[in-house]
Amino acid sequence: LSRADTALRGRLLWFVGRPEEQGEAAVRHIEDGLLVLEAGRIVAVGETAALRPQLPAAAKIQDHAGKLIVPGFIDPHIHMPQTQVVASWAAQLLDWLNTYTFVEEQKYGDPAHAARGAAFFFDELLSNGTTTAVAFCSVHATSAEAFFAESERRNTRMAAGKVMMDRYAPDALTDTPRSGYEESKALLGRWHGRGRQLYAIAPRFAITSTPEQLEAAGTLSREHSDCLVQTHISENLEEVATAKRLYPDCTDYTAIYEKYGLLGRKSLMGHSIHLSESERQRYADADAVAVHCPTSNLFLGSGLFDWQATRDPKRPVRIGVATDIGGGTSYSMLQTMNEAYKVQQLLGHRLDAFALFHAMTRGNAIAIGLDHLIGSFEPGHECDAVVLDARATPAMAHRMETVTTLAEELFILVTMGDDRAVEETYVMGEKKKPRQRGA
Ligand code: GUN
Ligand code: ZN
Repeated sequence: LSRADTALRGRLLWFVGRPEEQGEAAVRHIEDGLLVLEAGRIVAVGETAALRPQLPAAAKIQDHAGKLIVPGFIDPHIHMPQTQVVASWAAQLLDWLNTYTFVEEQKYGDPAHAARGAAFFFDELLSNGTTTAVAFCSVHATSAEAFFAESERRNTRMAAGKVMMDRYAPDALTDTPRSGYEESKALLGRWHGRGRQLYAIAPRFAITSTPEQLEAAGTLSREHSDCLVQTHISENLEEVATAKRLYPDCTDYTAIYEKYGLLGRKSLMGHSIHLSESERQRYADADAVAVHCPTSNLFLGSGLFDWQATRDPKRPVRIGVATDIGGGTSYSMLQTMNEAYKVQQLLGHRLDAFALFHAMTRGNAIAIGLDHLIGSFEPGHECDAVVLDARATPAMAHRMETVTTLAEELFILVTMGDDRAVEETYVMGEKKKPRQRGA
């Protein structure tokens, strides 16, 4: 540890497997632990008593003794230009898109508006302990530029892409198969792999893309097979019917994306609610990811995502859990897991506290294919972390008086917690929480 420059001390919790399948063997928990870092990377993790004597004298210790420290939260589906769409009183998805979303997103053609929106967006993510997101920007290349510039400034590991959409939207919000391809490719060339930035190819969904555009998006994804692909699918029944009408030769919604090579191991399929067994089987065969957005699904009345059917042990599909701001109603991954719990509760399946914490850290890292870099405190990983306080509010502190186990504390954090429970957010070992509590 002779080159270690920083160490984080606290109650460390992370996962090395799936707690819902492997139980305690999946959990790593050290009550007085030390995360030892070198240039933002974890080089050792263990008991403070064992590791502290090995640190060089110059190493800085960030002491959060007594506080829980977990890997930074990962939000695999969020819309940067929808910060002023949240809480819009609309009917279901298509009405909400046309009445509010497609109006707000037009403003992101203005670089000044995009820069201001991006700064707010990153402040909000980091205040909530979210250190990685996979984001849709607006159709404008300027919005993706603003996103990546802001992310680079904060050194966050982020994936994003300009949305591709060439029909059924206002003229100011459409590209063409050719311009959508070329602008995406130029952005990808400039940002993918630059520092911690990653490009995510983003055909919005089958309704707003012509077959020609999905073809172009598929071509781009073949040319850059290490890039994520993000889209929407089977969120709302009216949307499903419309998509099938627009692609009459496809047997179901999934077949549309399959046809254009957009269902693969890099594909993040937003919502994935109204799927048949055949579609889930094809997700599993393609190793595509179903991204569940519970606060959004409840807010827009979209439906209930079936976790157990998705994870059927015969053909388990990878699941991501995400906010989907601005269809979603909270930036907090804690609140997102709160709603995920309730949705499964309605379906007769209870996710436990460890499964919920796993989902927003290691689970989402696996979903976006970055589990070798983030979502864990195993040595070699980048140190993005969040310090949590389960006594952050009077109601939480009062409730904590009766708590005796870690599982109970974690469950209170996801049920009652939000940005107030986030004491600090670390990005590559540096403090990055923009606003302190009460500020
Ligand atoms: N489907 C297509 N675009 C969107 C969007 O912006 N939000 C949600 N929730 N669903 C979509
Ligand atoms: Zn979305």
